[in-house]
Amino acid sequence: MKQLVLGGVFALLSGHAAAQAQVNIICSVQAEWCNLMSTVYSRTTGTKVNMTAKGSGEALAQLNAEKANPKTDIWFGGTGDPHLQAAEQGLTLEYKSEQIAQLHPWAQKQAADSKYRTVGVYLGPLGFGFNKELLAKKKAAEPKSWADLLKPEFKGEVQMANPASSGTAYTMIATLVQLMGEDKAFDYMKKLHPNISTYTRSGTAPVKAAARGETTVSISFVHDVTTEAVTGFPVGSATPSEGTGAEIGSMSIVKGGPNTEAAKKFYEWALTPGGQQFGLAAKQFQLPSNTKVPKDPRMTDPAKIKLIDYDYAKYGASAERRRLIAKWEKEVQNQGR
Ligand code: G6P
Repeated sequence: MKQLVLGGVFALLSGHAAAQAQVNIICSVQAEWCNLMSTVYSRTTGTKVNMTAKGSGEALAQLNAEKANPKTDIWFGGTGDPHLQAAEQGLTLEYKSEQIAQLHPWAQKQAADSKYRTVGVYLGPLGFGFNKELLAKKKAAEPKSWADLLKPEFKGEVQMANPASSGTAYTMIATLVQLMGEDKAFDYMKKLHPNISTYTRSGTAPVKAAARGETTVSISFVHDVTTEAVTGFPVGSATPSEGTGAEIGSMSIVKGGPNTEAAKKFYEWALTPGGQQFGLAAKQFQLPSNTKVPKDPRMTDPAKIKLIDYDYAKYGASAERRRLIAKWEKEVQNQGR
């Protein structure tokens, strides 16, 4: 009898353990946001969240490497271009969210462009960050244009990320190509090269270096500069006067992942106003894609800056993204100083 009861309890316990849902997420936004979402989601739903942080380009490389046997269920955040590339490569699942009608048109278009294999979760314009104290020491003016970054006083004083690993840096290349035409954009990047001290792996490393006073200028998403400023670092931001591009930060469900049903639940939650409030709570200032999420005055209003009409479908296409990155490696990164 005793044995039977114990056996029953054991069965109940192990049954409970087996039933615990789990979801494996690659997260390409800043760690504070990833961690907050993961904690809140697991506490409120009982789902175990396994979170790995990776830049946008690195996340795409991992999904490709896992293709035969995917270990990931959701890819949350990161610039939209590599999400579109993943969609085109058949790495992500077609799924139309119940929240789609509540999303801004740019987020819906991102979903439609990918045949519903990704969706927009936030928007953020590209610009510069700068350390105000270092500028004052140098008696240099705040950079306001792409042209300003070429000034000799910024020699070795600008940081940007490497476009192979970072979606931020790829957004810059695609932006310049659309703004100037490809030849002029590559000429510009070659001229900028002597002013770049290092091409970092992650898109946010340059602004964190500017915040700590290790570099004067960073090429960054403006919202990442705001995060450093509200934390108390002496940084300011600008959007280039010639015009700039914006990312549509995206989210995709991995095709053939181990926990697809749990992935769909997380995906729906992450598109609701309730799920989207945690960006701001983690001091992230992108514009959320759900129109019902309250805006914060520290978020950049896209209507107030000179934004190009970024062709996401074109620059998110596999062949184009690969070609531009390879060309940048050959013609810009590998040239001498
Ligand atoms: C930061 C930004 C995100 C962006 C991401 C891209 O986390 O806050 O808006 O999508 O960087 O990261 P990456 O390393 O790919 O440039």
